[in-house]
Amino acid sequence: MGIIIPSSAFLLGIDIFLQADTYRYTDAGTWSAPLHFIDANDDPPSSCGVEYSRDCGTGGCVVSAIKNYTSRVQSSSLSDADVAMAAKFLVHFIGDIHQPLHDEGLDLGGNEIDVTFGGESTNLHHIQWDTNIPEKYVGGYALSDAKSFAATLTTSIKTGSYESEKASWLDGIDLSDPVTSATSWASEANAYVCSTVMPDGISAVEKTDLSGTYYTKAIPVVELQIAKAGYRLAAWLDLITSGSTGL
Ligand SMILES: *[C@@H]1O[C@H](CO)[C@@H](O)[C@H](O)[C@H]1NC(C)=O
Repeated sequence: MGIIIPSSAFLLGIDIFLQADTYRYTDAGTWSAPLHFIDANDDPPSSCGVEYSRDCGTGGCVVSAIKNYTSRVQSSSLSDADVAMAAKFLVHFIGDIHQPLHDEGLDLGGNEIDVTFGGESTNLHHIQWDTNIPEKYVGGYALSDAKSFAATLTTSIKTGSYESEKASWLDGIDLSDPVTSATSWASEANAYVCSTVMPDGISAVEKTDLSGTYYTKAIPVVELQIAKAGYRLAAWLDLITSGSTGL
């Protein structure tokens, strides 16, 4: 497969993102819902942290899912359809794990914390990454918006503000140990719950409009996490297909 530049890997994921998020809400796909997150049983904002053995539930979590689908995508005994499904899930979950509130148990990953954004009623999970904040920044949710955002991030990674730090994003990446690799990504994202998502606790954000100062502080984290997700996804897929990150 050669080198996958982050933008192409990330764009590849967009369609798949929508599919896996639709599937989880169908009767047939209910089983897959826990695979989108890991509910860290930490205590933000005073204490953040992910522990795989404590936080990955019996139905699995995003870390165990990355392990499972990394294994399945490399299987020579599964059907082509099962391998394709594994690849789609893998792309989706490596994206999800970089969203801080996908690595937080408090109030169902912030889904129960009601906030407003530009006057619109929403919840913390929804605004923080999934929709309102990135869409405001990117300018919409059309494929063309995603493509131009991906192109901007790719330039930042190749020659811009992320150029000098991108190598460190792959520290510890180990295809033979997906649980350790994915748990380190989850821990890193989860730390932003304490520093950026709710640094002053739930009461400081609840029933508050977050489209102003909060948004301004969140954007660098949202952008960084999306850049890392694309970069790591590309590296992970290259490790699977060629044995090297190609980076
Ligand atoms: C791995 O994924 C397959 C297909 O989705 C699923 O049936 C199986 O239960 C998963 N195994 C683990 C250990 O998560």
